[in-house]
Amino acid sequence: MHRRTIAPGALAAASLLLAIPASAASGSAGAPGIGDPYYPNYGNGGYDVSHYDLRLTYRPATDELAGTATIRARTTQALSRFDLDFLLDVSEVRVNGAKAAFTLSGEHELEITPKTPLAEGAPVTVVVRYSGVPSAKSAYGFTTWHRTPDGAVAADEPEAAWWWFPSNDHPSDKATYDVSVAVPDGTQALSNGTLQSTSSKLGWTRYNWRQNKPQATYLATLAVGRFDITTGTSEGGVPVVNAYSKDLGDNDGAARASVERTGEIVDWLSGWFGPYPFGSAGGYVPNTTTGYALETQTRVYYSPRQFASGSNTSVVVHELAHQWYGDDVSIAGWKDIWINEGFARYAQWLWSEHEGEGTTRELADYVYASHPADDAFWTVKPGDPGPDHQFDIAVYDRGALAVQALRDAVGDDAFFAILKGWPKEHAYGNASVADFRQYAERVSGKPLAALFDTWLFQPAKPGAPAARAASVAKAPTAAVQPRSWKKIEATDDVHAG
Ligand code: TRP
Ligand code: ZN
Repeated sequence: MHRRTIAPGALAAASLLLAIPASAASGSAGAPGIGDPYYPNYGNGGYDVSHYDLRLTYRPATDELAGTATIRARTTQALSRFDLDFLLDVSEVRVNGAKAAFTLSGEHELEITPKTPLAEGAPVTVVVRYSGVPSAKSAYGFTTWHRTPDGAVAADEPEAAWWWFPSNDHPSDKATYDVSVAVPDGTQALSNGTLQSTSSKLGWTRYNWRQNKPQATYLATLAVGRFDITTGTSEGGVPVVNAYSKDLGDNDGAARASVERTGEIVDWLSGWFGPYPFGSAGGYVPNTTTGYALETQTRVYYSPRQFASGSNTSVVVHELAHQWYGDDVSIAGWKDIWINEGFARYAQWLWSEHEGEGTTRELADYVYASHPADDAFWTVKPGDPGPDHQFDIAVYDRGALAVQALRDAVGDDAFFAILKGWPKEHAYGNASVADFRQYAERVSGKPLAALFDTWLFQPAKPGAPAARAASVAKAPTAAVQPRSWKKIEATDDVHAG
């Protein structure tokens, strides 16, 4: 499994800081974590970022990354000191123009002490000059920076940013981005949003990307390599930018046959979820050996392995569904992961039905029937799976089953109104599973506490609800594997990788 465990010391460090008395005159130290119980040291306390401006240079031959990050933020408390999450080598930090003292501490904390303390509610500009070889750096014993034969890729969840830019690394602090990357001529640099311009000088080409809608740090991506970039516009009017490594070999045809359907699938998903929330869509397939896909905002990361046994539109549907469920509306904390994965999986079920490869009902019955009551599958609570099971198969499959249970309980009209209304309700924001329940109750007019508890929060197989039992009785073949099943499951290779 891809997930790693966090050092036990992490919790203690977070709570220790609370003991330091606040001084009204000079402010106090911002906490080294934003308060996520799954990952106590992720994100930071005391400020809120609005914009990241990254101006970088990358040398594929040596894996050297260098540049400047300019961060616009606002303090949420008086601060004598604050942290960013980062682990490359820092040469200079300025806060509001003045050189600041800094140290790298812990696994990924850049502690910054400004020359003068910051007042509460004040705008602040932080400039960090840095360089390093990201693949040589690890935190908690792992690295998520992936070198490729022709470059590198930063795309991982929940940790990816530390290896390429300093940030307040938690989905609850979303910001806009300008990412400008210079790479040797003949190599391309990809990131989120739209390509504003490119310029060439003395053997280097600079790519300037802009994400003008709020974006969580883990959804920021950087890819450098030899890419073939394709552009187009969906029938519904969404600009599409895709990119394929020039070295995909045997997987090239299947990758393009899948990812080139991005525009069609974005338009189809808009029918369920409402208007596409961003100004650009697309995906990229670098020459990596890692085996997963990630919903990096507007520019989905796909592994070539996703296409090793032929085209796979199901994975494209999954990652594009996240653009609404995960990227537009982001989770409030990592425990809320069901809102991302349960709904992205359910979108795959809807696509299966659309493609005539098995209905949502057949898929739900199959998942329910194929895990006996004593299967460990049912011990995972999709509504609060814990950091070690955050991306467990149950978060996806049991998670989608919970979505089907909601549909069964409220009926199709209310269900599809919820599905489409949710992204609008929390556009470009954050929300929790509790927020989702309240919203579903409001739209459906039904109390749903018991249903959510049974399907998302109990470590046990729920009893078959009436609607489901009836369908099983009608269809004795309910446990027959739907034709879409293998492609759907192949989406989250992350469990094997
Ligand atoms: N969110 C990814 C998906 O679309 C899966 C995932 C979980 C992942 N952890 C990851 C992908 C780490 C890349 C790296 O299902
Ligand atoms: Zn997913």
